Amino acid sequence: MKQLRAAGITGTGRGIPEKVLTNADLEQMVDTSDEWILSRTGIAERRIAEASQASSDLGAMAGRKALADAGVTPEEVDLVIVATITPDMAFPATACIIQDKLGLVNAAAFDLSAGCSGFVYALDMATSAVATGKNQTVLVIGVDTLSKITDFTDRSTCVLFGDGAGAAVVQPVEEDYGVLATYLGSDGSMGHTLFLPAGGSRKPSSEETVAARQHYICMSGNEVFKFAVRIMGEASVEVLRRAELQSEDIDLFIPHQANTRIIDAAARRLGLTRDKVFVNVQNYGNTSAASIPIALDEAKEAGLFKRGDRIVLVGFGAGLTWASAVMRWAV
Ligand code: UT7
Repeated sequence: MKQLRAAGITGTGRGIPEKVLTNADLEQMVDTSDEWILSRTGIAERRIAEASQASSDLGAMAGRKALADAGVTPEEVDLVIVATITPDMAFPATACIIQDKLGLVNAAAFDLSAGCSGFVYALDMATSAVATGKNQTVLVIGVDTLSKITDFTDRSTCVLFGDGAGAAVVQPVEEDYGVLATYLGSDGSMGHTLFLPAGGSRKPSSEETVAARQHYICMSGNEVFKFAVRIMGEASVEVLRRAELQSEDIDLFIPHQANTRIIDAAARRLGLTRDKVFVNVQNYGNTSAASIPIALDEAKEAGLFKRGDRIVLVGFGAGLTWASAVMRWAV
């Protein structure tokens, strides 16, 4: 094993489906209102994958753009990690399917399941792999097509979610740049608050599970909400402590895009002004593992940060898990 070295993101990309589902559309499908959705969540519309579009299609779209952005050839990638809870199928891994689509012939490939925290979990793994010298160029993709496992007759969940993918290339960077610290956690005792009841080895899919609608997301929204409000603040504070930074040192805060009320609570905890907090949940809803990398890519495209700026990423999700990272932008 070589000596530890700095590792960070050198390119980003996103893959967004074209089809838009607005709050007005949802008003025609379930007993809800634009006013309720906007005031409780901040979401105005979300994107929905076509019936023919799987997670690997969106993930490959994002991955291809991230490779181009980093100026990396497919042959240079030596590891691809895909964070998803909506793989194309139980196996093979969606990472292997994307490897084939992008021609990443020299890469190892695996999926990682940490719900909406998945991208930051994968970023942590990729950073360690590059920092130790084991890997040189890692493609990290966060992708979910939650519309495929959402019950569009259940107003308590169907207004929240959208589909999409985001990707990042992780490589060695100049010393004191790149990922400075991460903090990952999990509380498995809260797994029952956000889960997919059927289709796994506990309850294989059957006519009965389908009739009982157990192939759809099951969530105790309010319990997840209370957890999220607490953990988003705590995880941000902890990762700053690990990097020996203060909240005043943050140039841009990119939280998981689930709900503006959760984002506002985390920003308040850090004492951040609104201009330092990136929010795009109004356009995409909660895209699960894709939300943070999509936001990062959009913020970069909008010129909201530059080389040397410090960016904090933080998310929470099924598990229940949480993850935060602080980076000094290297390119
Ligand atoms: O990435 C992790 C994934 N999960 C999350 O991010 C979810 C976190 N939780 C939340 O964001 C919030 O809990 C929700 C947005 C899901 C719900 O907001 P809330 O303020 O916790 O509302 P609630 O669940 O306590 O429901 C309040 C009322 C209820 O009616 P009653 O019992 O007070 O008469 C619900 O039936 O709102 C009703 N309601 C709706 N009304 C109109 C629930 N969903 C809807 C809806 N439209 N879509």
